Amino acid sequence: MKILFNKIFYSTRLIVEKNYYILYNKIYRCGEIMEKIAIISDVHGNITALKAVFDDIEKRNIKRVFCLGDITAKLPNSDLVIDMIKEKCEVVLKGNCDEIISSPEIKKGRFWTRDRIGEKRAEYLYNLPVMYEFYLSGHLIRLFHSSPFSLSHIFNPMFKNINTKYKDIQISSPDKLFENTEFIGKTSDDKIPDMIGYGHLHTPNIFRWKNKTIFNPGSVGAPTEMLNDYEVDETSKFSTMASYIILEGEYDSKSLSGISINLVRVPYDIEKEIENLRKSDMPGKEDSIQMLRSAWPY
Ligand SMILES: [Fe+2]
Repeated sequence: MKILFNKIFYSTRLIVEKNYYILYNKIYRCGEIMEKIAIISDVHGNITALKAVFDDIEKRNIKRVFCLGDITAKLPNSDLVIDMIKEKCEVVLKGNCDEIISSPEIKKGRFWTRDRIGEKRAEYLYNLPVMYEFYLSGHLIRLFHSSPFSLSHIFNPMFKNINTKYKDIQISSPDKLFENTEFIGKTSDDKIPDMIGYGHLHTPNIFRWKNKTIFNPGSVGAPTEMLNDYEVDETSKFSTMASYIILEGEYDSKSLSGISINLVRVPYDIEKEIENLRKSDMPGKEDSIQMLRSAWPY
């Protein structure tokens, strides 16, 4: 009887200990290695939307935030937005609007946003890097604002810019996004990335191209729906929300493991941002107001 009791007791203990060990390892490994990274872009001076996005990021306990540029212009609080981005983002890249307004040649009175942000912030913007890359779960991920050729070349998988102002800076094939160019400080000896993340479009999307992945977080402060017109569609709740992307995987790891990309939309008080705009003396208000309310591309 005693032998039977001991057999049952020890085999039960072994099962419990084994399961505890597996559970412990799972929790330990997930807690220590799997990580979420928020990728934000195109805030464009919209402090109300940026605060809502950072609230969402904090609720999800995400510690690492990377920004793909165009922090400034379009909406009135580029000064506050720069300060918040500088404080909370681990990586900040330069966008085309940031470059235009922060250029050292720009004289006082030329751009409303430049006068608003002042010289110290302009110097910070002008010196931002144009590319960042890192490994996540064995994938080399390269980030830039719009392309490996300049801050303005555009690749849009949802809309062909054949007869638009972008026709001369259009990129025709997604292959071009993976090129190693001098503009991003690369040579032919450098590795070709597995994934590209870029902003500039203001419309979020993720797609596969051959054996590669391309993602775009859309815009925090100036969301755009390519086919929308100037009219406000009262039934549309989605297009005007702030957007960003969450990547999840093992940061800085070259070993293949689980990886995911999550597209997030965040509601914010659009009318409050419109009030900020109306109270300011920023030029071009009416188009910006319509853009905020309808996700109209302009
Ligand atoms: Fe932009």
